[in-house]
Amino acid sequence: MLSKAFLYLIILAVSVTAAIPPTKRATCSGGRTTANKACCVWFDVLDDIQENLFSGGDCGDEARESLRLIFHDAIAWSPALIALGQGGGADGSIMAHTDVEMQDPVNNGLDEIIEAQRPFALKHKVSFGDFIQFAGAVGVANCNGGPQIQFFAGRSNESRPAPPGLVPQPTDSVAEILLRIGDAGFLPVQLVWMLVSHTIASQKTTDPCSIRRMTEGTGKMVVFKRAPFDSTPKDFDAQFFVETMLKGTFTPGQGLHSGEALSPYPGEFRLQSDARISRDGLLACEWQDMIMDRGNMLQKFELTVLQLSLLGFDQSMLTDCSDVIPIATGTVADPFLPAGMSMDDIEASCIISPFPSLSAVPGPVTSLSPV
Ligand code: HEM
Ligand SMILES: *[C@@H]1O[C@H](CO)[C@@H](O)[C@H](O)[C@H]1NC(C)=O
Repeated sequence: MLSKAFLYLIILAVSVTAAIPPTKRATCSGGRTTANKACCVWFDVLDDIQENLFSGGDCGDEARESLRLIFHDAIAWSPALIALGQGGGADGSIMAHTDVEMQDPVNNGLDEIIEAQRPFALKHKVSFGDFIQFAGAVGVANCNGGPQIQFFAGRSNESRPAPPGLVPQPTDSVAEILLRIGDAGFLPVQLVWMLVSHTIASQKTTDPCSIRRMTEGTGKMVVFKRAPFDSTPKDFDAQFFVETMLKGTFTPGQGLHSGEALSPYPGEFRLQSDARISRDGLLACEWQDMIMDRGNMLQKFELTVLQLSLLGFDQSMLTDCSDVIPIATGTVADPFLPAGMSMDDIEASCIISPFPSLSAVPGPVTSLSPV
């Protein structure tokens, strides 16, 4: 296995050849410095979106949707289609050609964030492709213990509408998803690494009924905004990897919808694809490994998102503006079992190593607080 320091050395080596570093750091407005003068504009974008898109630096709906948008824009890249002049990876086409790309139901729920982001890209005269990557990296750094996603700027604003069928769906089999991401240049284990993203995820369109819930105490039916994939959707922790391994016993809405699996407890939502991938013979051990070592989890995620963000682009033609991305604050808890659960509820699926022994938060099974 490559050590973290070694991997960073590789990245450093690549980025050094990408942009000849100026001997002196550039000073931008407000006295902030960056390695490259061309990056100064991103400090202005940063201030604007933290205040006006992310409600003052929150890890909320907009931050989560911005991370999802990175994936849906970038993964629309396939060598065979590029040869035919179609698709373009992280080119911002999902924002430039919303009329076409929003016809694909896989993009349901992304219209709001695209419309919310577009005016900022236009105002600061940056390309849609760059903006989507930047907003995703900043948004996720707003989450407790968030990753440090590198940001390279300079993608052309020209893009072609992506044809449908390139973004994996929750109803897809593991084999289908692996084939698709493999076509885009990813190894099978990288499916697990990219799904670290679901530690801050939630849904509202896969099963719109699942967000209606009886409130405890009053017994009144209330419609919440979203149903989270783990109990800590604001924390960039490993709980998603723990909680997806709990036995599914509960139907969050009125019957299971397409792409939905049984959930372990009230308020939590499980995607069928996540249920399958977490128990897949080839991937279950990698899934479990994400629980064992947080540093490893963050590093694998950061590398995989960087690779996504460069799909369709030559890194050496872009400028490294990573030093504009804020460093996440906040801490996260060590992996735990939700209240009322025990190790017997875990469906351990890695045959070569035992599931890590976790203890449960004290108290009875509780419903998740809404997000
Ligand atoms: C590879 C297979 C994947 C599938 C099948 C998948 C599917 C989904 C689905 C169905 C939702 C719920 C949307 C809704 O109904 O409102 C969702 C949410 C989300 N996904 Fe994925 N996803 C995948 C990979 C990824 C990747 C690679 C990323 C980012 C790098 C990502 C980031 C997110 C985020 C952040 C959310 C939460 C959005 C919110 O809370 O508003 N997903 N995903
Ligand atoms: C990017 O393209 C869109 C049209 O898709 C256009 O409205 C916008 O002004 C362009 N932005 C830049 C910076 O050229």
